[in-house]
Amino acid sequence: MLERTLAIIKPDAVASKYTGKIIEMLEESGFSIIGMKKIKLSKEDAKKFYIVHKDRPFYDSLTTFMSEGPIIVMVLEKENAIEDYRKLMGATNPEEAEEGTIRKRFGKNIERNAVHGSDSKESASFEIPFFFSEIELV
Ligand code: CDP
Ligand code: MG
Repeated sequence: MLERTLAIIKPDAVASKYTGKIIEMLEESGFSIIGMKKIKLSKEDAKKFYIVHKDRPFYDSLTTFMSEGPIIVMVLEKENAIEDYRKLMGATNPEEAEEGTIRKRFGKNIERNAVHGSDSKESASFEIPFFFSEIELV
């Protein structure tokens, strides 16, 4: 089924100039970029985006990290985009990510792990309009 998902190239990967290589991996894996912009989140924006994690011990550190510098936000489209992009990203902890995944190649540690991706249809339907009010879910 044709699906859309929300992808973010996180501040660590943008600062390390991995944007082009990550976009190349996305396109070579069959994803179409429906929307894309470079923005900088405030701490408040980051807290709203990651509200699902508000009670987790890493919430404060994560939201400080996500607001430390520019990010690239994208809407990706493909058959089975949500699950397939999660596979392409790899495990949350880059040390546990498989060879050939974005996090294995570009992640620094469990927090600074290069990319974000929606984990379900429900999260995609919150995350896509969070950044792209003009783009349809599919
Ligand atoms: O991003 P993903 O869906 O794989 O993981 P998550 O469990 O939804 O966590 C969101 C983000 O919080 C991760 O991508 C990491 O940047 C960060 N995190 C962390 O710093 N420490 C953890 N133990 C777990 C997640
Ligand atoms: Mg998640």
